[in-house]
Amino acid sequence: MTEDIKLSNRLLLVASYLPKGANFADIGSDHAYLPCFVCQQDPTATAIAGEVNVGPLSSAQETINKYNLNEYVEARLGDGLSVLQQNEVNQVVIAGMGGSLIRTILENGKDKLSSVNLIITQPNVDEKNVRNWFMENHFNIQDESILEENGHIYEIIVGIRVNNATTLSEKEQLFGPKLLAQRNELFYKKWESERVKLIRVISQMQNAKNQDREKISKFQEQLGWIEEVLEDDHY
Ligand SMILES: C[S@@+](CC[C@H](N)C(=O)[O-])C[C@H]1O[C@@H](n2cnc3c(N)ncnc32)[C@H](O)[C@@H]1O
Repeated sequence: MTEDIKLSNRLLLVASYLPKGANFADIGSDHAYLPCFVCQQDPTATAIAGEVNVGPLSSAQETINKYNLNEYVEARLGDGLSVLQQNEVNQVVIAGMGGSLIRTILENGKDKLSSVNLIITQPNVDEKNVRNWFMENHFNIQDESILEENGHIYEIIVGIRVNNATTLSEKEQLFGPKLLAQRNELFYKKWESERVKLIRVISQMQNAKNQDREKISKFQEQLGWIEEVLEDDHY
């Protein structure tokens, strides 16, 4: 009997957003732990594990072989959504990379998304890019989560296809509309740490020989929003 795959809490939470019987792509799958876990738990699910690098692709294939999941999970080499045929999957997962790379992958692979109604992302940084792409491409934010693991705070942003996406303010794009409404303890912890980082960045930019005034004032505006939100801290 093959053993059960163990996932990190981060990937477990990502996986929890997939419906039963999911037919999905995990882009940037690395070891393919997530698609293998999902298909092991749910024999009605199928997945494509996409990888742009040969090393992680072969790790993905090893995991698929180890757990006898070749019938359910297929590893494919390629950049972003280019590994997919038209109308091949209904959900897409992109986890564990920066928000701007996730945005680029979605933007460059738009033609492969017509059958996709759910996109689950877990950007490590620059989450704003993902929210902005969702808003501009007919996806509403269905849910957001925040969790801490191994000293890192992660956000998960889930987009669902709609006819008319809700407009998000710049502030909502930064903090996340759902996370901003909830404002749990971890949210405050994250933004306190971002506040400290931003103050340091602004001060370095102000001391530079050639100051980028536009960028400084953009960052100062963000700092203002962060301080405003933190002032509401009632913990
Ligand atoms: C840090 S790992 C994350 C693995 C897994 N998704 C997770 O969340 O634990 C990022 C993976 O994305 C892959 N990657 C980066 N850019 C990619 C792209 N444009 N298309 C497909 N895979 C990509 C990398 O090779 C790497 O294996």
